[in-house]
Amino acid sequence: MSAARIDEVRNEVDELAQAVPTAKEFMQAMVKVLHERMLKYNWVGFYLLEPGAQPPMLVLGAFEGAMTPHTRIPLHQGICGAAASSGQTVVVDDVNQDPRYLACSLETKSEIVVPVFAHGRVVGELDIDSHFAAAFTAEHQNLVQHCARLVGNKLETAAQ
Ligand code: SME
Repeated sequence: MSAARIDEVRNEVDELAQAVPTAKEFMQAMVKVLHERMLKYNWVGFYLLEPGAQPPMLVLGAFEGAMTPHTRIPLHQGICGAAASSGQTVVVDDVNQDPRYLACSLETKSEIVVPVFAHGRVVGELDIDSHFAAAFTAEHQNLVQHCARLVGNKLETAAQ
């Protein structure tokens, strides 16, 4: 995947951030763009922290790709739970070597999960799976982190 493609997609999501009125529509449009344009992003979705849930729970939001069995993930489970509970990006180059991994598709080889912050708190995360090992190089991490920041900004400033 060329650096030019990453720049193009970054510009596309920046334009979407301006064009789309609500955070919900923005997340729907973003997963579509990332899934369609980034050929190794084979599953792209948001998980959002359920407000007030005890124990804290990540709930599947907008996504593109095959339906996943993991529609609700407690914070102590999975790579998703690790990213949300630590507030840190998690990149796994080979999911089969990571005991935290919750399988979504047998074809998945690598995964990135980037927390989404609003008003200084984790409110959800952007999760991307690839059928290719080690798909999420530093350039990709930057793009996905940029996308997660845009969503956080939208959640802070727009209607839901
Ligand atoms: N693999 C994730 C679960 C979500 S599916 O990939 C869509 C995890 O380990 O938390």
